[in-house]
Amino acid sequence: MCSTLAWILSALFLLLSLSLALLFIDALLCCAFSPFEFLGGFWRSCSLPEKHTKMSYTHSNMSSGSRTAKRIEFGRTHVVRPKGKHQATMVWLHGLGDNGSSTSQMLESLPLPNIKWICPTAPTRPVAVLGGFPCTAWFEMGELSDDGPDDWENLDASAAHIANLLSTEPADVKVGIGGFSMGAAMALYSATCYAAGRYGNGNPYPLNLRAVVGLSGWLPGARSLWNKIEGSHEALRRAASLPILQCHGTSDGEVAYKYGEKSVQCLTSAGFRYLSFKPFEGLGHYTIPKEMNEVSSWLSARLGLDGYRS
Ligand SMILES: *[C@@H]1O[C@H](CO)[C@@H](O)[C@H](O)[C@H]1NC(C)=O
Ligand SMILES: *[C@@H]1O[C@H](CO)[C@@H](O)[C@H](O)[C@H]1NC(C)=O
Repeated sequence: MCSTLAWILSALFLLLSLSLALLFIDALLCCAFSPFEFLGGFWRSCSLPEKHTKMSYTHSNMSSGSRTAKRIEFGRTHVVRPKGKHQATMVWLHGLGDNGSSTSQMLESLPLPNIKWICPTAPTRPVAVLGGFPCTAWFEMGELSDDGPDDWENLDASAAHIANLLSTEPADVKVGIGGFSMGAAMALYSATCYAAGRYGNGNPYPLNLRAVVGLSGWLPGARSLWNKIEGSHEALRRAASLPILQCHGTSDGEVAYKYGEKSVQCLTSAGFRYLSFKPFEGLGHYTIPKEMNEVSSWLSARLGLDGYRS
């Protein structure tokens, strides 16, 4: 009798641990292969100029005002020191679920001895699109939909954190921002803040950006981009003179190629004329040496670096 009970209990325990383990593996897989399909709705609503965007901007501005007291904890920042003369500093931003440590290892191998790389780590937050599983993410993605609001609060908080990392660089050092996937989205969002001269919340943007790189990414806040640029000669001038490189794999299964194309269209029609777009035939949602060579030679030319050897 007693041994039967023990047997039943241990069988129950085994079942419970098995289902817990399965849940965990499921969440991990979710994090590694994040479903970005919902972005489709987001892009359908990207058209410039759009009349009602000001309303949603004001609305999210108001809602973020009441939550400004909330502290956001960013992860560790890793720095790759220049091996040669320090001429430029780039912040490089990882994708969803990744971190600054793995990013810095990848950048260390590039033939760019004059660049100092700063690789921050995004805050770990429950990501709604991953069923609330906690991941490193620069902003909340679950709220994106056809007419849903962009996550202005966290876009601005991350953009400000990134700008802050560059604000103490020497005046003769050129500064730029690049990234992959969600990190590319942050880099492109920062480009729009730089051109507009302010963040989404209206605070002034403090940096003079000299180069922006986005790999396999998209543009958040695209719907209100035109409202921020139009009517200001200064904003149009900054947009037109900021060098941007966007690369995207034509076989990207996470952030589809068309989203890269669409963000190029949005940026170009808002006055970003110094933009190069490089499609990579057959490339999925990852980077390859050929693409990083493209990034290296582009950065070297745009930032006027001495020590680049291809
Ligand atoms: C950083 O991400 C890599 C995968 O890209 C992972 O192997 C590593 O454990 C992570 N490190 C930390 C400190 O989270
Ligand atoms: C929006 O934010 C800006 C800058 O923080 C502020 O000046 C403005 O009053 C805010 N608008 C609303 C409606 O909260």
